[in-house]
Amino acid sequence: MSSLAGLGKLVLVGAGNMGGAMLSGWIAGGIRPDNVLVIDPNPSDSIRALMDRSGVSYAMLPPENVTADILVLAVKPQVMYAVLETLAPVIGPDTLVISIAAGKTLSYFEERLGALAMIRTIPNTPAMVKKGMIGAFANARAGAQQKADAETLLSAVGQVEWVEKEADIDAVTAVSGSGPAYVFYLVECMAEAGRKLGLPEDLAMRLARGTVIGAGALLEGAGDDAATLRKNVTSPGGTTAAALAHLMAEDALQPVFDKALAAARARSEELSG
Ligand SMILES: NC(=O)c1ccc[n+]([C@@H]2O[C@H](COP(=O)([O-])OP(=O)(O)OC[C@H]3O[C@@H](n4cnc5c(N)ncnc54)[C@H](OP(=O)(O)O)[C@@H]3O)[C@@H](O)[C@H]2O)c1
Repeated sequence: MSSLAGLGKLVLVGAGNMGGAMLSGWIAGGIRPDNVLVIDPNPSDSIRALMDRSGVSYAMLPPENVTADILVLAVKPQVMYAVLETLAPVIGPDTLVISIAAGKTLSYFEERLGALAMIRTIPNTPAMVKKGMIGAFANARAGAQQKADAETLLSAVGQVEWVEKEADIDAVTAVSGSGPAYVFYLVECMAEAGRKLGLPEDLAMRLARGTVIGAGALLEGAGDDAATLRKNVTSPGGTTAAALAHLMAEDALQPVFDKALAAARARSEELSG
């Protein structure tokens, strides 16, 4: 894999939640600040302070005297069209374009920016704490080095998983892109069930929240897969088995997840259409 310090000129367009998280990951990971230009008309105070502290330069509009080796598009999909109209000055024939915008296909970018190496990604919000899952798909023009550079950049905020066809990005969106919300809802459900068992509401929420955080840490640290960890805490005839008999019933959680994720994928397809 290439290193952040060894990357060429990087232009980040949009330094909001996601763009800002990536920028902070890149700076922490040792990117050369003089190799980074941020374009954002109105960065937040914290991002402005980060850029001032680290020596990253920023501009309201793409300047005429910079050509990006890598151009990262991190604006909202609704403003993407207007933003792309302004980017010609920073794009050269060898620029690699990386988009993190939900629902914007590679053909959308190719129609507006021309025949360039491009990578479409879908990150999720844990990228803000460097624990994102990032699905990525590259077009045929992206070479091995460009894919390695993209992986270096994206790995600064999480784990990169490449998919083999662009349509899979919609399924990735359904699993990991929207996934954090499912887990947050699980916390809400566990807390509400605890409250119904008679626990004070705030205690039930602390127990549920802490349990999901702890289980996530165990999943990360233990090296075992989820099914093994589950079996390890399920004694035959015990309390966990009593609960799982309901959660794992044929008409319980799995078919609900099947339907929910199918709906998310269908919505992602609609937005991409
Ligand atoms: N958040 C997520 O969970 C998530 C997950 C996967 C993918 N994404 C994708 O990530 C992208 C960014 O989302 P976000 O949540 O980070 O949005 P965001 O916080 O609104 O960030 C977008 C940034 O772009 C700036 N901007 C607006 N117009 C611009 C322009 N003409 N040139 C340059 N910058 C401009 C915005 O400034 P203003 O605030 O002043 O408008 C803002 O700072 C979206 O395309 C989204 O689909 C987000």
